[in-house]
Amino acid sequence: MRIPIIAGNWKMNMTIKEGIEFIGKIKPSVKGTDVEVLICAPYVMLKDLVEAAKGSNVKIGAENMHYEEKGAFTGEISPLMLKEIDVDYVILGHSERRQYYNETDETVNKKLVKALEFKISPIVCVGETLDQREGDLTKDVCKVQIEGAFNNINQDDVEKIVIAYEPIWAIGTGKTATSEEANEVIMYIRNVIKGLYDEETSEKVRIQYGGSVKPSNVEEIMNESDIDGALVGGASLKADSFVELVNF
Ligand code: G3P
Repeated sequence: MRIPIIAGNWKMNMTIKEGIEFIGKIKPSVKGTDVEVLICAPYVMLKDLVEAAKGSNVKIGAENMHYEEKGAFTGEISPLMLKEIDVDYVILGHSERRQYYNETDETVNKKLVKALEFKISPIVCVGETLDQREGDLTKDVCKVQIEGAFNNINQDDVEKIVIAYEPIWAIGTGKTATSEEANEVIMYIRNVIKGLYDEETSEKVRIQYGGSVKPSNVEEIMNESDIDGALVGGASLKADSFVELVNF
């Protein structure tokens, strides 16, 4: 049984004060849920959010990290630093990092290895651009990204990894892949994992959908056979709307 995971990705939004208030607001309203609840936030507020979420079922994640433990990398944050403040999750390879900050399948792989070593649960993002979708390349793109990210990852570690399928054309655009389209790609991604490892392993991996998920479409998305959760940007910024997503 795969436990669904509903995660907010705040990106570069929210002040520390707003973040702390948000966690305080959602805590009582999400405590009865069967899904895993996660908020991924900017580095500067992670320590405060971990503190604010203490004693609740709300988990806190980072939106990125470096793959080295320490060193001369001005402006970067290491897995050691995230672990020190009890961060549970880290998003790796989000398309915005790939697009604006030179994230590659190789760096995603290095970060994945480190996250596992430091016992920070990774969410690995994959997904195609609009051009790639229109060129019928969606599955090829996802396959290359998955194979790159999972290079040399041990079979025993695979079930600790969450994958987020986020078609880039659906991020922040209001355009959502239909739930059937999303499910088809996610089934394909599961099949890629099966090819790399085996069926049992592929059945254990949780695969989320991300891209304009909101309270009005979350139920339909979550009802699909292979979609194990959502990674949500815009609709995760308001406490009421995030609570609706969790309690779909
Ligand atoms: O990681 C979440 C994401 O990229 C989707 O953003 O705003 O379309 O829900 P949004």
